[in-house]
Amino acid sequence: MKMRDGFLWGGATAANQMEGAYLAGNKGLSIADVEKGSRSGAPREIHDRVKEGSYYPSHDGIDFYHRYHDDIDLFAEMGFNCLRMSIAWTRIFPLGDESKPNEVGLAFYDRVFDCLNSHGIEPIVTLSHYEMPLNLVRKYGSWRNRTLIDFYERFCISVFKRYKKKVRYWMTFNEINEVMNQREPYHQAGIRFCKDESVNEVKIKVSHNLFVASARAVIAGHQINPEFKIGCMVQYPTTYAKTCKPDDVLAQRLSMLPNYYYTDVMCKGCYTNLCTAQLKRLDVRSFHPDPSDAEILQKGAVDYIAFSYYFSSIASMKNNESIAVERSNPFVSRTDWGWPIDPIGLRIALNELFDRYQMPLFVVENGIGATDVPVPNELIQDDYRIEYLRSHIEAMKKAIELDGVEVIGYTSWAPIDIVSVGTGEMSKRYGFIYVDKDDDGRGTLARRRKKSFYWYQKVIATNGSDT
Ligand code: BG6
Repeated sequence: MKMRDGFLWGGATAANQMEGAYLAGNKGLSIADVEKGSRSGAPREIHDRVKEGSYYPSHDGIDFYHRYHDDIDLFAEMGFNCLRMSIAWTRIFPLGDESKPNEVGLAFYDRVFDCLNSHGIEPIVTLSHYEMPLNLVRKYGSWRNRTLIDFYERFCISVFKRYKKKVRYWMTFNEINEVMNQREPYHQAGIRFCKDESVNEVKIKVSHNLFVASARAVIAGHQINPEFKIGCMVQYPTTYAKTCKPDDVLAQRLSMLPNYYYTDVMCKGCYTNLCTAQLKRLDVRSFHPDPSDAEILQKGAVDYIAFSYYFSSIASMKNNESIAVERSNPFVSRTDWGWPIDPIGLRIALNELFDRYQMPLFVVENGIGATDVPVPNELIQDDYRIEYLRSHIEAMKKAIELDGVEVIGYTSWAPIDIVSVGTGEMSKRYGFIYVDKDDDGRGTLARRRKKSFYWYQKVIATNGSDT
């Protein structure tokens, strides 16, 4: 089975995990630049400033900032016709609240987009991928503060105008639903809770400000170039009921509320009954959005849904009516980092999202973080990666061909080894291209093609028919 002509094949990346050069070209400090590396399982330490003697993986990343030419050559060799990447907000507005953008930062992305376009690779751009100016957190309290909507809109308008002829597909915020799902949504929204704050009240307020910011970006983007396709981006957590006990089935449905809360507002352009139900479940009573926001949300509904899919979970109802969501599904295997491997979960995700919204979908993240063991002068034999991706691509093909789901493209996370968000490790590798760097920042940064490089090259060359 082949994909339709024009299906987008490529890989997905994020600025703060790969660019490095964290102060080059007047770049400001981002929230990622004060996050230390850690090891699997341990949370990353977050500092309020850069501290001498601490190792911050984003500072050097994999030095894409200086090596983008060679890396894009490798992506082109694999046959990519798209690359998902993000623009570092802090390269364009180093502090976030300036009135004029930073020309050096704008010029950098001009060069990257020109290089991509010269290879026939379409840039797919996330406007904010787990990165925002640290100054906005320190000075304004991050997305708790409505003023950030204006700053974000200014950033979006600057890049929309600048790249209106070079970029067609945009996404407003990476994995926006993780604001609700994460205990402390630092990556997603620069939020760390204060002692006296109500966590749920803050999460709902922050989410609303992000919704309005996203909608204003969509409205502005469509005015600047009506051809723009601007999507939301969520992490889709396919979830099964742990048993067929009705309580567990109900728990599964309720466990999805925190996620549909985001896609409903961004795709339907309003707070639906499901959103109201979620507010009740969270016991949030002080949420009174500005009445004028309703029209903005409506007009700023997105054009497509982009999502990441890595694994599925299981839900059950506890005695006290609370919901337990776990990863311990005995029917699926797990990665080295304990993430369940479930390709059918991707087919289900595609069906659930398409049924609910009838909007084009874009699989913008899917991949396996694994330990690769390089042997000098030998090809890295990453068959586990090939197997993971093959089974997920096959599942996606079935969703398209048999279930009639509309899919724009597929970008695997990540085409080249980059810094892990969860742990800051380099040894949690996702790439088709190996990067010589370890968890402490040592290594030559040399690139090497893995076995999966040639496999993905064949998948793209046959437009998905030979996996
Ligand atoms: C997604 C993020 O949640 O998962 C990426 O959008 C991230 O930025 C990816 O890298 C994989 O997670 P991790 O923790 O293995 O890097």
